[in-house]
Amino acid sequence: MLKNLKEWFSNYVAKFYRLLGERHYNIRLKEQHTYKVCQEAIELGKTLKLTNQELYLAEISALFHDVGRFMQWYKYKTFQDSKSENHALLGLKELEKHQVLFSLSQKEQRLICTAIQYHNVFKIPEMEDPQAKLLTQILRDADKLDILRVFMDYNKIKQEPSLEWDLPQTPGYSKEIISDLYQKRISSHENLKNGNDFKLMLLCWVFDINFAYTREQILKRGFIQKICKSLPQCKEIQEIEEYLLQYLRVPV
Ligand SMILES: [Fe+2]
Repeated sequence: MLKNLKEWFSNYVAKFYRLLGERHYNIRLKEQHTYKVCQEAIELGKTLKLTNQELYLAEISALFHDVGRFMQWYKYKTFQDSKSENHALLGLKELEKHQVLFSLSQKEQRLICTAIQYHNVFKIPEMEDPQAKLLTQILRDADKLDILRVFMDYNKIKQEPSLEWDLPQTPGYSKEIISDLYQKRISSHENLKNGNDFKLMLLCWVFDINFAYTREQILKRGFIQKICKSLPQCKEIQEIEEYLLQYLRVPV
């Protein structure tokens, strides 16, 4: 079953390569991201001692979580939802249109669609079904881990402005985001003024991590240090770095 779903996904992506050009940068970016999120979700799931059935659902949610990105890029040439449409909902429409999940049980479909729908919301709403909540939390953590990987390569950011939403590469950063960080608040996307603000927003994500494994991986992979190194070198950023590392090291 999983094999068929993976095959559908790869054929679906191939369609966009045909339309936009073989190895089209932004399509490749989201294709690779998808496979990485699948791996991250499985790794995370294993540490949580999920059953095989739960792991299977976690992998399918990861496989389709950004399926809307391909149509979004094709139609609007942007990955910014506010300038196009919500890519999670667009993805659900595509899955429905192509009847991708029809061979799964109603319950499985509902769990997967819930995780996809809420993978990119600011805050997960209250969920009564613990399985839906768990799957959504796993997907969000796995997604963040891989988005941080993508953004680590700052050369890529410079070459490809769509990655950071065409924000200008101006010096300095917004003090409001620093204050959000100290208040353990996630900055909203509307407040970002330049590339540095975008990086600070990525740092805010540490406050929206659900599992100890993810925190450990953020530390182990040096994401915080690398992002801070690419920001203006000043005392304020050094202090933020220390503060965030400290936050991640203390178990919740
Ligand atoms: Fe997404």
